[in-house]
Formats: sequence, structure tokens, C-alpha cells
Amino acid sequence: VPVATLLRRPADIIGTAGNARHPNIRASRDLYQPQRQNSRGMEFGDRAALSELVSAVAAEVTLEAGSIVDATPEQVDAAMSAAREGFKHWSRTPADRRARLLEQAANLLEQRAAHFIALLQREGGKTLDDALSEVRETVDFCRYYAAEGRELFGHDKTLPGPTGESNRLRLRGRGVFVAISPWNFPLAIFVGQVTAALMAGNAVLAKPAEQTPLIAAEAVRLLHEAGVPSSALHLLPGDGSIGAALVAHEGVAGVVFTGSTEVARSINRRLAAKDGPIVPLIAETGGINAMIVDATALPEQVADDVVTSAFRSAGQRCSALRLLFVQDDVADRMIEMIAGAARELAIGDPRDPATHVGPVIDAEAKQRLEAHIARMKREARVHFAGVAPDGNYVAPHIFELSSADQLTEEVFGPVLHVVRYPADRLDDVLQSVERSGYGLTLGIHSRIDDTIEDAIDRLQVGNIYVNRNMIGAVVGVQPFGGHGLSGTGPKAGGPHYLARFATEQTVTVNT
Ligand code: SER
Repeated sequence: VPVATLLRRPADIIGTAGNARHPNIRASRDLYQPQRQNSRGMEFGDRAALSELVSAVAAEVTLEAGSIVDATPEQVDAAMSAAREGFKHWSRTPADRRARLLEQAANLLEQRAAHFIALLQREGGKTLDDALSEVRETVDFCRYYAAEGRELFGHDKTLPGPTGESNRLRLRGRGVFVAISPWNFPLAIFVGQVTAALMAGNAVLAKPAEQTPLIAAEAVRLLHEAGVPSSALHLLPGDGSIGAALVAHEGVAGVVFTGSTEVARSINRRLAAKDGPIVPLIAETGGINAMIVDATALPEQVADDVVTSAFRSAGQRCSALRLLFVQDDVADRMIEMIAGAARELAIGDPRDPATHVGPVIDAEAKQRLEAHIARMKREARVHFAGVAPDGNYVAPHIFELSSADQLTEEVFGPVLHVVRYPADRLDDVLQSVERSGYGLTLGIHSRIDDTIEDAIDRLQVGNIYVNRNMIGAVVGVQPFGGHGLSGTGPKAGGPHYLARFATEQTVTVNT
């Protein structure tokens, strides 16, 4: 299904030259080696030269970076038929070959990193740091799933049996997988979902977020160029109605979704209401992510980690910190330091390498966040209110609530809510986190082992970060995903992910 045309093709201009000049922007090449430094801040090497390159690329992408034609319901049918045909061949393509194609996609991504950085900035509003780490994460997904997939799908597992009988277990693709991805990681999550489903032997119908279809179109183009057959991977851009039509289609063998809890629920309902096979859903949703800071925490470190966790990427990460619990006897000092660090943040054009906080995704998001900020100004104590330039910018804000119950839903932007707790009421804090029903990320800043272990044991939270920031999970190092209202698991970038895209077959032969 032809969908998108880039009016200008900066890839042709900057392609390999960019990579040769800036070897540091490559993710791991020969061997899968996750980019550990992602989790603690990036080291970009020659930043000045990199930003010069990125500006050159941005100048090439004209004001209208591209155009997109939404898929129609008829195309959903056509794509499904083509994908079912494609599945027959793709599911029998040896795992090693499927893995090699993903590795080739990783190579191409590395070569065209600057092109994707520019697109992430133009279409996704990403800062340079965020765009670069997203390209790295995308490369990591390709390499990691290739490596895992070789192990899992490369050979059948021989199982014991009596003399005269052989038993083996095979993992194979389920059929046509629908992949529905969000705008906040328009490249990494899009490619992560698609490559996992492909590696497991499925054909894929991919529906990107309606805010970021061009990045998805470029990613699909690249995967096709890497050798993934066009019959096995189709792009269907559009709004929620396309997603709904895909999910409701009788030909769907599985759905992978990242987005809001509400949409995950509606997908679940649609799948349950269908006749025919029972279709699995892999959903990764949001969270009211908390960080707990007690009196033994190091204030400078807390300030740095809180500001990074709450405000980097303009707070538009599912992992971002929303609710900070601070022990009351150190709260004044901690809040003052955090507000001081927030004051230093530069808000503005994401293409300026000095920018820390870029725009939010669109006017609708800005409106929603501004309404929340206005409510907080009435109902909470204001500790910090940044100033945003004109455009779709929302400045960082810090509010103090009298109770965590005042925050009932995920606020997807640069707004931090603080709640004080007395030293002897840590238990109430843990209960409050449990009560939210979400379980995606949790931060703990403490030097008391019992406090840390107690929180880890009691809370059903997917990713727990102790004495550091709580964003930027690294593929293969911090498998990512949550529990309860935050998702179904398994964790993306983890060792159990691919198996959920597959079906199992036991073969017993009487020899
Ligand atoms: N994987 C991302 C992170 O860890 C999700 O928001 O920040």
C-alpha cells in the first residue's frame, strides 16, 4: 500500500558521509552491545560537528517535510490479504535470514542516522539528545531481536522421550500481527514492535500514530530496502478508525499496542467480541510513575535525577516521573534544589542543540496540559512555573499536592507533582503507589537497604530505578514494560518478548 512521499530526500545527501564524519553516532555495529551510557546521559563525542550536520539536514527538509495519504478501509482488506499471502513465505524464511535482514536494517539506520534525527526533530519535535538516543535505541532493538531470534527460532528444542520416540518443540509465527504504535517514540517503538513481530515469523500490518506517519514511512522503506519482503510488512497510516478496522479484522493473529490504557482496553474489548480464534494482545501503556526520596538521599543527585526524569523529552515518556514523594524533614531543601535545576532548563526549538525541553506533540496536547496546569494552580501549591515561548511549548511546572489522591490520571507532559510524607508513614506512600493500579516505573532515592528492598518486594512495578534517574531504559539491559493498568508484558527489549509473538508446536515422532 503506497502511502507516503517525502518531498525532499535528505538521506541521499547526508547518508554515509554523515556517518563517516561522526563515528560516535553509530550504535553497536559488529556485535550487539547495548548503549549503557543512554541511561545516565549521553556522550556524543564531537557535538558541535554533529549539530552542524543536523542543521544542514534540517535545512534540507523543507517546511513541508512530506505528505501522507491515509489508508482507507478497503486498503485494510487489501493489505490483510496481501499479508496473509506474505506470511506463507515469510514464516518459512529461515530465522537466520530474518535476523540478517534486521541486522541489515540496523546498518542502514546507522548510515542514515542524521536523516532520521532530522525527521525526529521535524515531525516528532525531539531535541538533539532525544533524537540521537532514539536512533540508537532503534538500532539496538534491531540487533537485539536478531540475536534473540536466532536463538529462539533458529532450531527446534529437543525434548526427552522414551526409546523409540523423538520430541521437539518449535516456535513459529502466528500469522498477521497488527502493530499500533505511539508518537512519543515514533521510530524506536514503531521499529521495535515491527521487528519483534517479523523476527518471530509474522507478517505485519503497522499503524503508526497519526501525528508521526512520515517517520514510520521512512522506517518501512528502510526495512523493505534491507530485504524484508513488501508482502510481509505493510504500512497503514491513519487515525484511530484505521486501528479499529485492523483490530476488528477476522484475519488478525495478534496485536501489539503501545499507547494509553483506555485504548488498550478498547482493543481488548474488540478482540474479545470477535468470533473465531482467540487473539492475544501485547499492550504497553502508561503510568502515574512515582519516585520516593527519603532523608538519606543525596540532594544534588536527587535534583539532577528528578529534573531529568520529569522534564526530559518534555515529560512525554511513559517512564517519566509524575509523582515525587519526599520525606518531610528534607522536603523544603529538596524542592528548592529541584526548582533551581528546573530554572536552568532551556525551552525552545528542538533543533537548537542547547535546548533541553522541546515542544509537546501538538496543539491538542498543549491545551490538555494547560488545562491541568490551570487546575493545579488553583488546587495545589506552586513551587515552579517556567515560561514557554510561543508555539506548542509547555514549560516545566512543579506543584505540591496535599495528597497523592489528587492525581488520578497520567499527565503526559512536563508537570511534576510533589507530596511530602512523614518518616514514619513510608508505608502509606507504598500503599498509595499500589492503589493507583499502575506499575510502570518507580524511582527510589535512599541509602537504607530495608526501604529499598521493601519497596521492590511490595510493589508490582515493571522498572525500578534506585539512586538514579528513571527514564531511558536500554534494550537488553533494562527490559521495559509494566503491570496492571500499565500493560500486559512481556517487556520490550527483554528475553521473553519474542516468544509472545510466536505460537508453539510440539512434534512427537514414533521412530
Ligand atoms: N523506554 C522509554 C524509557 O525508558 C519509555 O518511555 O524512557
